[in-house]
Parts: sequence; structure tokens; C-alpha cells
Amino acid sequence: MATSTTTYTPRQCARDILAVLATHDNNVVRATPEIIPHIQTLMRRPDLLEMGTPRDSAHTKDSIWLYYDPEFFILISHPEKDVMVPPHNHGTWEAIGLYRGALQYSRYQRQDDASRAGFADLKQSESRTLHPGDATLLPGPPNDIHGFTGLTADTYIVAVSTGLYSPVRNYFNPEAKTYTPRSENTWRATRSR
Ligand SMILES: [Fe+2]
Repeated sequence: MATSTTTYTPRQCARDILAVLATHDNNVVRATPEIIPHIQTLMRRPDLLEMGTPRDSAHTKDSIWLYYDPEFFILISHPEKDVMVPPHNHGTWEAIGLYRGALQYSRYQRQDDASRAGFADLKQSESRTLHPGDATLLPGPPNDIHGFTGLTADTYIVAVSTGLYSPVRNYFNPEAKTYTPRSENTWRATRSR
């Protein structure tokens, strides 16, 4: 039976995605084609910004939890217009969907073996503008590297991930083939000064 988009709750979305992951032995890459439609169904709700509870965010503003447990979450957040968040990693996979506005989004794959501190040879694997209803999935390490820029004043994304965020993130300069480790919230603290 089809689920009404107005009754499709963050909890049901979480349950559906976790069931898909279990079917694929938690292989998120194999599960991606089945995860994306659940996020898109949730994003058809017009009232996501009126739900949830506030959270701190490393790279975005006005972030709220829509669903949270220590191992899995769904959040919504607001990348600021024209603020380029440089390529960085998370330490885990992350699916994102574009709820409102527009987002320039890039993913990268690591080509070196990570044996040299401060050196990273990245290849861009995706670069596109996400529009409302679009969704994409960032795989786990070592290819959990992405950057983005909000393109409108009302850009909001839905993000789905695990509780396994690394407390230290690497921030990459693909042209110089370098990276700098920084604690999770350093980028935001630097921006707010
Ligand atoms: Fe990120």
C-alpha cells in the first residue's frame, strides 16, 4: 500500500533505510538505489522545517534533528548562500537530499594510499547542482570526501548518516594535493570570528 507523503514520518524513513541497509549487510553502496527513494519521499513533506529539535552543525546553520539515535540520524540544515565549504571528510557515509533552494555539490575519490601525512591525490567523482528532490550518497572512507556551496538564501538539505563522525576532519586542497586535519568544529569557529 502506498504511503501518503504527509504521513511519511522521519521515524518511518529511518526504519525503511535501516531495513534496506540490513538487507544489504550494511553495504551502503549496494543499498544506495533503495535508500534514495525513501529520502525523496520524506522530502515531499512540506513541513520538515517545522519539525525536529535544534542541533549544532560544523558547516551549516539552523540545523535540526528530524530523527536521532546514537547510531543513525536524519537531520535538516541550511548551507549559507555563497559560502564554499571546502572538500572535507566525515569518517562515515552520508546521504543528502536537496529540500529547498539549490546546492553546488562535489564528491571526490582518493587515489593515493594515504601513506604520506598531508598529501592527498583526489579525483572528482561528482560535481553538480542539486535541486529540490535530488538526492545523492557519499560512500564511506576513503571516498567520504565532499564540498558544497549554497546557491540560494533558502537552501536546505536533508542528511542521513551514522553516529560514526570523526572528531578530526581532513580539509583538502585538491589542486595543491594537500590536506590539513582539523577538529570537527574548527571550520565553524574560524568562520564566526
Ligand atoms: Fe560534510
